[in-house]
Amino acid sequence: MQDNIVTLGVVGAGTMGRGIVQLFAQAGHRVLCFDSFEGAAARAVEFANGMIGRGVEKGRITAAEFDIIRGRIEAVGQLQDLAACDVVVEAVIEDLEAKRALFRQLEAVVAPHAILASNTSSLVVAELAAACAHPGRVAGLHFFNPVPLMRVVEVIAAVRTEPQVVERLRALVAATGHRAVVTADQPGFLVNHAGRGLYTEGLRLLEEQVTDVAGVDRVLREAAGFRMGPFELLDLTGLDVSGKVMTSIYEQFHHEPRFRPSSLVAPRVAAGLFGRKSGRGWYEYSGGEPVKAAALAVPALPASLAVWIDPAATDHGALLALVGSAGATHATAAAQADLCIVQPWGTDASHEAARLGLDATRTVAVDPLPGLARHRTLMLTVATAPAARDAAQALLASDGTGVTVISDSPGFIVQRVLATVVNIAAQIAQRGIASVDDIEDAVRLGLGYPRGPLAWGDAIGGERVLAILRGMLELTGDPRYRPSPWLERRVALGLPLLTPEAARG
Ligand SMILES: NC(=O)c1ccc[n+]([C@@H]2O[C@H](COP(=O)([O-])OP(=O)(O)OC[C@H]3O[C@@H](n4cnc5c(N)ncnc54)[C@H](O)[C@@H]3O)[C@@H](O)[C@H]2O)c1
Repeated sequence: MQDNIVTLGVVGAGTMGRGIVQLFAQAGHRVLCFDSFEGAAARAVEFANGMIGRGVEKGRITAAEFDIIRGRIEAVGQLQDLAACDVVVEAVIEDLEAKRALFRQLEAVVAPHAILASNTSSLVVAELAAACAHPGRVAGLHFFNPVPLMRVVEVIAAVRTEPQVVERLRALVAATGHRAVVTADQPGFLVNHAGRGLYTEGLRLLEEQVTDVAGVDRVLREAAGFRMGPFELLDLTGLDVSGKVMTSIYEQFHHEPRFRPSSLVAPRVAAGLFGRKSGRGWYEYSGGEPVKAAALAVPALPASLAVWIDPAATDHGALLALVGSAGATHATAAAQADLCIVQPWGTDASHEAARLGLDATRTVAVDPLPGLARHRTLMLTVATAPAARDAAQALLASDGTGVTVISDSPGFIVQRVLATVVNIAAQIAQRGIASVDDIEDAVRLGLGYPRGPLAWGDAIGGERVLAILRGMLELTGDPRYRPSPWLERRVALGLPLLTPEAARG
């Protein structure tokens, strides 16, 4: 093995290949680009140069530096021209046989020390490696689109990949300024595996008629801080594509309930409701923008309203202040109240009303996560009277904060989705698919979540995350909610969820 990687080959000059060319040329490497489609490599080089040239316009690099970078990139006409490459990254079509055939051909071209890396999103890297005489030199190198802007790259260690190959790829990526995360050759690798929770739980909420598509997205954006809700994301990637990924990951994990896709998807795909690209998905699109229904008017606060707040409520003080500022009165006994407010963790409003012996027709629940400062979620029992619903909505909106009304759901929306996200990340850590640090950074950088999943779990409190999962498991009986042993053990010892196994090193 040589120590310094200086020449890189990129095979497949499409969307991903051209971004990979740009990234490595900017990082100082000589990059040779090949595509089997006549003229495609030259067009990719032109495109990459155009992107790099923008740096001159923006004053980030000088014209002289641009010339140096541009001089490092070359389109080549045949695979044999890659003979001098230390690393070849393939980004050809996502087809097992095409990639296996390519790796077999490449092995005959490159030097014995050269690394062969695949940008596959969904294939088993070991299956590509198995086509080679030296599988130890084959690894996954999974970039995200657009490559120069998505600052995380997964280095996938297949079962026979040599450790020094993983280390060399990690160092190669790190030198570009992107974050390299090392992951095992498991379905969805790291980022797409960790991203399952938001989609599958979003779809479960819709299946259960907890609220509508726009309601789920709004709560997750405004209350939880996700950049986009699950349905907005599905419309962006296209349900035809995402639906296949959901099914493929579920199948590859041998029907693990945590990844179970939704029966809501197939009929919509059959109907061509793919999302933005087809003009209609979960939302309708006009001029490329989703057409969202105008918000319904908030009901007026009744002239007189006596409100009882569960003394155990997480936001008891803030709710009491809201009652005061809205001009309602505080009832010290639930029996005398027009409205009873509870704040359960991991259970629904009906069960909480029953547990506390409250009149369900006058009871509502307010999500304690993430507190009252942001968007508020108001959950009804199955029996909440319309008058109590309207009074509660008016009270919660009285200081101008947005409110989404939902029906009974153990864990509301935010609790359920976040507990699911944390649980999946915990299980990735438990299985040693990636290190805690790599999981945290990959999710922030690859999925754009405001924080890493285990840190998010710690911010909520491991004990609470566990209570939410146990509550959902008990109420639904669905094993998708069974907590990962990673959570159970850290909560048992009072340790942060970010705590790695001490003896694993
Ligand atoms: N597009 C994404 O968002 C994305 C993200 C991550 C990973 N990936 C993966 O990256 C790979 C490429 O995806 P893409 O979106 O860039 O595809 P693309 O269709 O834009 O480009 C593929 C290119 O490969 C060329 N090609 C096909 N077979 C070839 C062969 N045998 N030898 C040389 N060139 C060949 C094609 O002519 C084409 O230019 C796939 O494995 C895909 O799963 C894609």
